This record gives sequence, C-alpha cells and structure tokens, in this order.
Amino acid sequence: MSGSAGQGARTRDPTRILLLGGTSEASALARLLAGEPNFAVTLSLAGRTAAPRPEPVPTRTGGFGGAEGLARWLGENRTGVVVDATHPFAARISANAARACAAGAVPLLAVRRPPWERQADDAWIEVESVTASVDALGEIPKKVFLTIGRQEVSAFARAPHHAYIVRTIEPVGEALPVPDLVTVSARGPFTLEDEIRFMREAGVNVLVTKNSGGAATYPKIEAARRLGLPVVIVRPPALPDVPSVPDAVGVRDWLVALRAR
Ligand SMILES: NC(=O)c1ccc[n+]([C@@H]2O[C@H](COP(=O)([O-])OP(=O)(O)OC[C@H]3O[C@@H](n4cnc5c(N)ncnc54)[C@H](OP(=O)(O)O)[C@@H]3O)[C@@H](O)[C@H]2O)c1
Repeated sequence: MSGSAGQGARTRDPTRILLLGGTSEASALARLLAGEPNFAVTLSLAGRTAAPRPEPVPTRTGGFGGAEGLARWLGENRTGVVVDATHPFAARISANAARACAAGAVPLLAVRRPPWERQADDAWIEVESVTASVDALGEIPKKVFLTIGRQEVSAFARAPHHAYIVRTIEPVGEALPVPDLVTVSARGPFTLEDEIRFMREAGVNVLVTKNSGGAATYPKIEAARRLGLPVVIVRPPALPDVPSVPDAVGVRDWLVALRAR
C-alpha cells in the first residue's frame, strides 16, 4: 500500500456514509467527520424528537420503509458505508441495517456500548422488557422514577396504584393516564449530584430504566446505589452480529483504515 488516506483525498471521491443516529455517539461522530474532505456524511434520524439539536452534517428524517426501503435508499444515494450509531434498544433499525447492507454488499459498522454491569451494592431487578418492569414493581404502592423514554410509558397505565415521576426529553402528553403523575421534560446529561438531589427531594422509592450502557446516563444508576434504592432495569435486546467499535473515535479510525485499503 503506497498512498495514505490524505493522498486519497486528492484523487478519489469522498466516501458516502449513512450515519444512523439518535444518540450522543452519532452526534459526536457527526462533529468528528464534518468538514473531512474524505467523507460525505448524511445523518439519519427517526424523527421522534420534534426539535433535535442542530448537527454539522446534512440530515434526513423519518423511516426508510423497512430493510427493503433502506436497501433502496443506499443504492439510490450511492452509499459506500453505513454506520449504525442508534440506541442499543433500537433493535429494529439495527436489524434492518444489517439486512440492507448484506443485500447491497455495503460495509456496515455498529457503535456498541457495553451494557452497565451490576456492582456489589446495586439492588437491581433485571427484566426482559418494559412490560415486565411494570410487573416487577409489585402490588405495594411506590413512588416510581421512570427514565425509559417516551415511547413505552403507556405500559405503566395498568399499574395506576403507583405514583410516577416521568423524565423525558419531550413531554409525554396524555400517554400515562394515572392519578399520581409528575412529568419532567429535561435533556441530560445529569451529574451524580443532580441525580442524588433529584431522587432524594422527590422521595423516589424505585428507579425504572433501560440498561443502555455508556457514561452519559450512568449517574442515575450510581445515585440509586448511593441512596440504597432498588433499580428495575431492562436488559438490552439482542442485536445483529456485525463489526462494531465502542465510540465515535473508533468509527473514524475504522473509516480511515477502510479508505486506505
Ligand atoms: N429505543 C430507545 O430507548 C431510544 C433511546 C434514545 C434514542 N433512540 C433513538 O430513537 C430512534 C428510534 O428508536 P426506536 O427504538 O423507535 O427504533 P426501532 O424500534 O429500532 O425502529 C423503528 C423504526 O423507526 C425507524 N428508525 C429508527 N431509527 C431510525 C433512524 N436513525 N433513521 C431513520 N429511521 C429510523 C425505522 O423505520 P423504517 O423501518 O420505516 O425504516 C425503524 O424500523 C433511533 O434512531 C434511536 O437511536 C432510541
């Protein structure tokens, strides 16, 4: 191999990258690759957030129409690489990306955060789904802090004997019709001190969350540990077996190596 990635920039078109996002890793990667002459990134968002943060790369919004629709999009847009930087619980789009890339022989790289691991002082009740987390709360009324996102909060409507504090980026609206509900619209990150203060002042008895891994949302887990609170934690879903790296820098290194081949 004689040339470097930098020399390639003078002689070859930029690699067209579809970046499946909706996470802090995807935003970090968009910032890392914006203005890089070797890479032309299109960020894709599902459209769940009404006012997403502005990103420094071209952005498209909305579903593709399943794996077939995504495969079509990749062909029409002459995509050279797909980076799946979606949330670890966004299993459908990850499966679609794996199928579409296999069908079109497009290289695929996933950003995968290792899930959090239970520490000695953690009082975790691990469950397989948000639905199962409702049952895990039990019959005795509790003050429940829900940090599972907006899409699945309605599952808790069948346990109206608990009091709920729901923290989401966007308001939950009428999604959770229970008599005792406090909603908090806020975008993290939250520090450990923020989380301890919040849970203590609100009188939280139990935290319900997804095991999303990563540092950005870990303070709530640590806060629950320090306060001696139980955590009902949803295990991550199975994801397709594809090449992966843990973070945005790993993606950039992989892309540079791929281009230098
Ligand atoms: N699930 C979570 O807890 C969570 C938390 C934080 C952020 N997010 C982000 O929110 C988005 C939606 O999550 P989800 O759990 O609803 O996903 P999902 O169940 O895996 O996907 C459902 C459908 O939404 C569309 N979609 C998902 N991500 C997309 C993207 N980045 N660009 C274009 N279309 C996308 C696809 O529609 P088509 O089949 O029509 O293509 C997909 O089949 C993801 O981008 C994810 O990164 C999710």
